[in-house]
Amino acid sequence: MGGMNRKPLMVGNWKMHGAHLEAIQRVQKLSYLLDPGDYDRVDVAVAPPFTSLRSVQTVIEMDRLPILIAAQNMHWEEAGAYTGEISAPMLAKLSVSYVIAGHSERRRLFGEDDRTVNRKVKAALSAGLTPIAAVGETIEQREAGEAARVLRGQISGALARIPTEDIPRLVVAYEPVWAIGTGRHADPSDAQETASALRESIRKRHGNAADRVRILYGGSINPGNAAALMAKRDIDGGLVGGASLDPHTFASCVRYWK
Ligand code: 13P
Repeated sequence: MGGMNRKPLMVGNWKMHGAHLEAIQRVQKLSYLLDPGDYDRVDVAVAPPFTSLRSVQTVIEMDRLPILIAAQNMHWEEAGAYTGEISAPMLAKLSVSYVIAGHSERRRLFGEDDRTVNRKVKAALSAGLTPIAAVGETIEQREAGEAARVLRGQISGALARIPTEDIPRLVVAYEPVWAIGTGRHADPSDAQETASALRESIRKRHGNAADRVRILYGGSINPGNAAALMAKRDIDGGLVGGASLDPHTFASCVRYWK
């Protein structure tokens, strides 16, 4: 688990699953399973689909739950003729704390690239949201020995022209594409090596601000492997997909040390 006093962050990325009533139930059940000591130790966030954000916000506020809200995506402009899009200020008004930028599914299926990810990271920061900049290599890139180069490119692209003073607010998610939804998580030592390399490439440009960045691992996290991943020095949390849909398995990921 992250050194340098980085508080771990566990985010449940629900992807395109469930309507708002299910979302409400999921958050309520999660809250019954976690206790104040858990929240002291780990920042807990859920990333519902857009249509559930308002409902989730209402439950969290009514029940005063210390669960944080994340969005899965957004547009980089504040407003305008962008049919179908959602802006950072809109998310901020719903008490959203985090927004994922450049998830591999967005890159692969919806044409996001390092430039759009960079725009989203900047827009999130200006709206007071914490961006979760996602990076990750494909299996082909890994097998060709190109993973390190690809990741360096993605991280420098995502963080281009971000002032060093904003770097400590940032979250980076390392999600190897081959580990997402496959049941095949990265070997914890490999994930640590990559997380450390990502931190070093942030350090090159931003010095010791890199030590404040939380780096999450994502890709087939489950209650059985969370502890081993979280034990690593440069891994400061997790981005949990499939296992976050069931409140019990997500709660077990949050309470990885138990
Ligand atoms: P899985 O946990 O289902 O592999 O998904 C990971 C992910 O993409 C989280 O953003």
